[in-house]
Amino acid sequence: MATSGVTGCDGILEAIGETPLVRLRRFLDVPEVALFAKLEACNPGGSAKDRPARQMIEHALDCGEIEEGTTVIESSSGNMGIGLAQACRYYGLPFICVVDPNAQPQNIQIMKALGAQIEMVQKPLDGSYLSARWHRVRELLRKIKPSFWPNQYANQQNPLAHQLGTIREIDHALSGDFDYLFVATSSTGTIQGCRDYLRQRGRRAKVVAVDAVGSMLFGGTAGTRKIPGLGAGRVPQLAVGQEFDLVQRVRDIDCVIGCRRMAAREAILVGGSAGGVLQTIHTLSSQLAGKTCVAILHDSGTRYLDTVFSDEWVIRETGYLPQEIQEYMNDRPLSLSNATLSQEVAASP
Ligand SMILES: Cc1ncc(COP(=O)(O)O)c(C=O)c1O
Repeated sequence: MATSGVTGCDGILEAIGETPLVRLRRFLDVPEVALFAKLEACNPGGSAKDRPARQMIEHALDCGEIEEGTTVIESSSGNMGIGLAQACRYYGLPFICVVDPNAQPQNIQIMKALGAQIEMVQKPLDGSYLSARWHRVRELLRKIKPSFWPNQYANQQNPLAHQLGTIREIDHALSGDFDYLFVATSSTGTIQGCRDYLRQRGRRAKVVAVDAVGSMLFGGTAGTRKIPGLGAGRVPQLAVGQEFDLVQRVRDIDCVIGCRRMAAREAILVGGSAGGVLQTIHTLSSQLAGKTCVAILHDSGTRYLDTVFSDEWVIRETGYLPQEIQEYMNDRPLSLSNATLSQEVAASP
């Protein structure tokens, strides 16, 4: 229906993007650093993943890979699952999300409320739940026709969504005038889209990948990781051979400290990977004086109340006590004390 003169979004998917870029004046102790945060939690599905979810579905619709009645099948236990549940519901497409027992119950509830069918794998395959989930996705694709697998870990529409949206918005808001961009990595879709946009325009900004200790990206060694959405247990197709200006690794506890410091100093609840990004900047802050830095913060702390913001969870999973966290939050950051901005360019093997 034509609604001439009426402003606003035509449907919920049009509300994706144009998230706030917020100047943080309190988070760092070094006032000479101009720090901006891109609050991706303000997307309607609650995370940066709304962007690639919409892009992958709309591209598949445009090129006929999805037609009426096609079942969309994806393996995700977090933000991508929610973004896809939203986009599929909007277009009236059946959506099956394959999850494992580690999925956050709240995320499953959100997906179900958006009409998704949840397929829970019960046992790991070759020791890995990820392998079990991918195996199940392939089985379902064979069984259900027509069906479509967005496969965020290999789909070029994933980085493209950030190239067309996230970084374009940041670049426009700051007129291209910034020195560092800090981005958490998993599929590497967000950081690739941002890097490509900046390089195409000849911008000076250095692009810093914030990855988890225990992630296999960028030559890392596999290990236990407890923060959802950050890092990868195997190098996804999308990440092979990708290079960024700098790679910094954070532990689970660094993410916790970053989240709690952000809540205490800026009154903003951010999710675990965002805490890791912020703690990285905090650690490097003395080397960033005079620079303008941008942090992309993927989601909100409201989905981490039972983990990052729960003292019981933090003690159980990291061994750190609330008093210690308080000290790290207030004092010189001890968690990444050897970090330096002179590290070499790193690539995924
Ligand atoms: C909370 C959170 N942070 C960071 C990322 C990493 O984004 P990307 O997959 O684009 O590398 C994700 C991806 O799922 C995420 O959910």
